[in-house]
Amino acid sequence: MTIKQAVAVLAVLAGASSASAQTAAAPGPVPTFSKDIAPIFFANCTSCHRPGEIAPMSLLTYKDARPWARSIASKVADGVMPPWHADPAHGSFSNARRLTAAEKTIIARWTSGGAPEGKAADLPAAPVYSDGWNIGQPDVVLSMQEDYPIPATGTVPYQYLEIPANFPEDRWIQAWEIKPGDRTAVHHIIVSTKAPPAPPTAQPPQARPPAAPGAPRPLPLFSFAGGTEIPAGQTGGEPLPADKRPAVSPNDRPRPRGTGPSIGGYVPGNSIRRFPEGMAMRLPAGHSLVLQMHYTPMGKATTDRTKIALKFAPGPPKTALLTASLINGGLLIPARTANHQVDAEMTINRDITLYSMVPHTHVRGIRWHYEMVYPDGRKEVILSVPKYDFNWQHEYVFKDPLKIPAGTKLQAKAWYDNSAANKSNPDPTKDVRWGDQTWEEMMYTSLTFSLAPPTAPTAGQQR
Ligand code: HEC
Repeated sequence: MTIKQAVAVLAVLAGASSASAQTAAAPGPVPTFSKDIAPIFFANCTSCHRPGEIAPMSLLTYKDARPWARSIASKVADGVMPPWHADPAHGSFSNARRLTAAEKTIIARWTSGGAPEGKAADLPAAPVYSDGWNIGQPDVVLSMQEDYPIPATGTVPYQYLEIPANFPEDRWIQAWEIKPGDRTAVHHIIVSTKAPPAPPTAQPPQARPPAAPGAPRPLPLFSFAGGTEIPAGQTGGEPLPADKRPAVSPNDRPRPRGTGPSIGGYVPGNSIRRFPEGMAMRLPAGHSLVLQMHYTPMGKATTDRTKIALKFAPGPPKTALLTASLINGGLLIPARTANHQVDAEMTINRDITLYSMVPHTHVRGIRWHYEMVYPDGRKEVILSVPKYDFNWQHEYVFKDPLKIPAGTKLQAKAWYDNSAANKSNPDPTKDVRWGDQTWEEMMYTSLTFSLAPPTAPTAGQQR
């Protein structure tokens, strides 16, 4: 925060409507909603702050926004809104939600100046939000097979709803959009693919076409401490405890076996992904989609039937996007520790281009830090999340995708607060290990990348 903003904020907090310090620091007429504020809100806030969306109030009109002026001043000044958690000192992200210092000053001056409306003639046209699909006409809309019941209260363990897709040949996802049936009860969704069960009669493995001379050695892509090597699209890191949980009630949908890489996900305010021209993600023939649903009861029983719309590229793209994850499945966070560090590291064995990362812990996670150690020994912090917040599962999409040479190490560090001081901590007296549920923990990072130079994987690529 600049001194100017600090002054402005103090003025607001003190309830001063025309503090002289404020006027001296930022001369000129008091900004108005119509002329100065609406453009900022339309560009940065109303994607969430509009009727039917996840935020508690709309900011589309003056009437909607005016009662919230005080709260807006403080949330904007302290950086809580718009929600974005990357440390600006490291990396630059194409989907960053961040107000400029000038925009913050305008908001502070508007609120401290009495939050006037201004002239109707100054008001720009409000953005148009479609009830339809924002990715344009989808090629296919897939829907959950059932109206999943969510109780009014209590905790719903993660549920895994499988949607048959069963395309006869590979499809290349160019864009996706996810629409929860009841947004209020859906905390987040992770969509993975799942291979069909192996046919009862074992087929001999399909012969792969011989590699062209000079073609890159296909596997492995990554290796981990302990010598594990994984092909593209698989989960790596220390092995996860086997998930053997049977369904505990008629409505329980435990994780099916054999779920593959994630292809996307939904978090409030982020339900769409369009890959750049020439890039797409493979949905292999015969695979289904598995939606990992995190439902949060909201005080009133409801049901959810989430839909996912897909747009396909006409054929294999120039650049096939792959996903992989870096995890530490062996974590153990002792009871009553306030700042417990968990590390994970992988060596990237091929030249890749890295497009985005999603850090994921549960409610005890407080901080993330990612560093590349290049083959020449140079180190670079590529993402730092100093105040991780479980409620905001951001995908950090690099503005300039990172070209990473083979031999680079990716080192991830996450910190956990398992003390009573952590208000989100469900039980500081428990040691915590890996698990799906929010009272368990994860140390999980999803990576979206391509092989460089761009090569589309052959249909028979091992997954
Ligand atoms: C990605 C979605 C999203 C965006 C973008 C967003 N908000 Fe929010 N906002 C929320 C949600 C959800 C809440 C309620 C939960 C919370 O406070 O975290 C909220 C809460 C708030 C509150 C607190 C309301 C109260 O109860 O006092 C204010 C003020 C606010 N937002 C202002 C803004 C402003 C101003 C912007 C744009 C500069 C903005 N938000 C952008 C989702 C968003």
